[in-house]
Amino acid sequence: MNPLADKIIEKRTFRTFNIFVFEKKEEVTEYMAMKLILKAQNRSGHNLSVALSGGSTPKKMYEQVVENDPKGSAMRHVNWFWGDERCVPPTHEESNYKLAYDHLLKPLNVSENCIFRMWGEDDPEKEAVRYHQLLDSILPVRNGYPVFDLMIQGLGEDGHTASIFPNQKELLLSQNFAEAAYNPYSMQKRITLTGEVICNAKEIFFLATGAGKAEVMAEIIHKTGKFKEYPANFIHARHGELTWLIDKEAAARLTF
Ligand code: 6PG
Repeated sequence: MNPLADKIIEKRTFRTFNIFVFEKKEEVTEYMAMKLILKAQNRSGHNLSVALSGGSTPKKMYEQVVENDPKGSAMRHVNWFWGDERCVPPTHEESNYKLAYDHLLKPLNVSENCIFRMWGEDDPEKEAVRYHQLLDSILPVRNGYPVFDLMIQGLGEDGHTASIFPNQKELLLSQNFAEAAYNPYSMQKRITLTGEVICNAKEIFFLATGAGKAEVMAEIIHKTGKFKEYPANFIHARHGELTWLIDKEAAARLTF
């Protein structure tokens, strides 16, 4: 039982997903940090396979994992993957890997053998193929796609998730496990897991905090406005469980 469960100020369980609302962002990220630690501690034999999101939200979560598991005794039983990566070197400030390395992997001295980063420094088309083959070789496969134990995703204000942006439906439906992508605003090249892989995880968590996410959250949950354009709206738990972890600000326009 997550010790932070009492921080949930509003809990809704629907047929295919849950929404847990917290007072503030730090409680959202700490709940996820504790969930990660508990799942690693209670894993069944093999290392937990975790796909990390990019963006800025995970930074606080990483710090809270280190605070709650300072010796990495739970985190040493995790194999680390990414949901997407920017096509920059792993030392670049915009690298999703670098954020995790600086605030989680390095502080906990995580073994290189447990780190499976997307090679943002390489050609994205080639890297997407390599990552597909990597996932195919080390993860269990179910209905044709790899199964992550834990998939942590963020939500963009335009409804994107991972590096799947609106009007990029081919990335949602691709039979490849990873694809070359791009941010349509900056034209920055990306590599991303595809929609079917994200949906195939045993547990999917969306972390969304701040007032900027309130409108897109409401449209996705209540199926209003431009929800059909939002890649995050496509994501559902094909055979696992999906939970939204959001703060009050992001929940402001939800009407239960
Ligand atoms: C990325 C992410 C992206 C991110 C959302 C939310 O590489 O940018 O994978 O999907 O998760 O944009 O970002 P914030 O956590 O910064 O709000």
